Amino acid sequence: MKILIVFYTRTGITRKAAEDMAELLKKHVDNVQMEELIDHKDRSGKIGYLAAAKDAMRKNETEIDEIKHHPKDFDMIILGTPVWAGTMAPALRTYLNSYRKDMHDVSFYCTHGGGGASKTFKGIKSILDLSPKATLSLRDKDVKEGKHSSELQEFIKTIIR
Ligand SMILES: Cc1cc2nc3c(=O)[nH]c(=O)nc-3n(C[C@H](O)[C@H](O)[C@H](O)COP(=O)(O)O)c2cc1C
Repeated sequence: MKILIVFYTRTGITRKAAEDMAELLKKHVDNVQMEELIDHKDRSGKIGYLAAAKDAMRKNETEIDEIKHHPKDFDMIILGTPVWAGTMAPALRTYLNSYRKDMHDVSFYCTHGGGGASKTFKGIKSILDLSPKATLSLRDKDVKEGKHSSELQEFIKTIIR
């Protein structure tokens, strides 16, 4: 089985979740790759934050770096994003709109500040027109403090089942 974890991160939380996920997955699956989406727009500082919220709310796309791995070469794609204004980050939206035809088995995860991820999962699902095998919603604080391992293990169990 070949698994690709595709994610965007602004401050590293969603990357940390992806790295922890990859480490656990590698105990069960021979080929696990990661693809970090790089947004060309500067999202740093107060102005970057406000523009990020506005872009997310308006469901805007953005320009991203060329991808390193093609999703069609993988059996399962795990898609990760921070929740921005109740929805996905523009970099993931761009990726989904570009490659949705090349994904068949998918799982989703989000990191968030406490508002949950159900609306974000719904948004991803509606672009792909696919139901995820598993979903995982992680609070930023829990990922930072390393308190997300049992949720992560449950998520992985469902994926490899
Ligand atoms: C522009 C912006 C909007 C956000 N909106 C929400 C939100 O609607 N709900 C929520 O729970 N957290 C929200 N957050 C918090 C992030 O989802 C959370 O801190 C996430 O883990 C950050 O991930 P990252 O470090 O991978 O960028 C927002 C953060 C940013 C920068």
